[in-house]
Amino acid sequence: MLTRRDFAGGLALGASALSTRALAQPTGDFAPQTLGALAGRRGCLYGCAATTFELRDHDFAPLLAREAKILVPEYEMKRAVLEPRPGAYDFDGADALSAFAQRTGMQFRGHTLVWHKANPPWLGAAIAAKPRDDFLVRYIHDVMSRYRGRVASWDVVNEALAPEHGRRDAMRESLWLRAYGPDYIQAAFHAARAADPAAQLVYNDWGCEADGPKHDLFRAATLDFLERMKARGVPIDAYGMQGHLQAFGAKVDQRKLRIFLERLDALGLRILVTEHDVDDSGGPTDVSLRDRAVADASRRFLDVVLDNRATTAVLTWGLSDRFLDPPGLRARLAGYSPRLLPLDSNLQRKPMWWAMAGSFSGMRPSLAN
Ligand code: XIL
Repeated sequence: MLTRRDFAGGLALGASALSTRALAQPTGDFAPQTLGALAGRRGCLYGCAATTFELRDHDFAPLLAREAKILVPEYEMKRAVLEPRPGAYDFDGADALSAFAQRTGMQFRGHTLVWHKANPPWLGAAIAAKPRDDFLVRYIHDVMSRYRGRVASWDVVNEALAPEHGRRDAMRESLWLRAYGPDYIQAAFHAARAADPAAQLVYNDWGCEADGPKHDLFRAATLDFLERMKARGVPIDAYGMQGHLQAFGAKVDQRKLRIFLERLDALGLRILVTEHDVDDSGGPTDVSLRDRAVADASRRFLDVVLDNRATTAVLTWGLSDRFLDPPGLRARLAGYSPRLLPLDSNLQRKPMWWAMAGSFSGMRPSLAN
């Protein structure tokens, strides 16, 4: 059984030194090591966001199918894509991703039904013109009904909190709050429960991962919000922690994060990491130093998250850097190619992959979903 030390050793040597093939080849009773397999041994799902563009990459798609056990559309289930015109739905992209997940034996997540961003241009004007019309519950019903039985878990509401907006309830000033008041959140979750009683319903957000006064405030506001929702019987099953970290910015305080996650578990919530990546900008230009810092940040975070029995899934916001920098465009514009994800642009395992493998290999068994 490979232990964390083996993977840590790999990390110390750097993936290039410790041949990735050494772990990829079946040795003895070892199946080829993948993040999905390593997480699965603890009852945890590993997966990632993907796009239909990535599925057309014939080198990448088979690798995705091997590494991931759960998939989420990066953008093809955003409302701007699903409902480009009022009531005229376009499910082609979401259907293609759902079919790929089904074909490859993966679970599928829906992201996201209610967000203040990525809405179709017509929505704001329609709500303003007919404020008493329902632009929320009907949409949730229409979309979730279509994917009933195919989507195991939904990000029902995304990023509804913004303590910096100054409200006592820490709610984000958004078109949804302005249109329907703070009760829009419970209306959304009750509509989601009615649309697919078997689906896991997730409140998804970021801001609770790292250390610092802003994150301390966000953690307190998030716990207060979730306690209020649970006290009112709002059907929230899980907290989705996006997991966007910085390699050279705010660090994770493992003690604070652990306490936060224990409070979520005590509320009876499952925990999902829904969009994990590590921004490697703002540091040295040396790639090996950037990769090492990304791996260290991921490890610091996941070691704590995976040590909580309520954590049942970890998804990265993509699997390979290949699609972050369309033929070097970002590199030309920003002066560097981002390296946020477990595989590099040549689909080779990076130190982040090894760090995640080490975290999965050492985690305690997860609770069932
Ligand atoms: C982003 C996607 O990466 C983009 O492709 C899309 O155009 C907009 O949304 N938090 C979220 C995700 O919840 O939905 C966002 O993803 C990234 C921030």
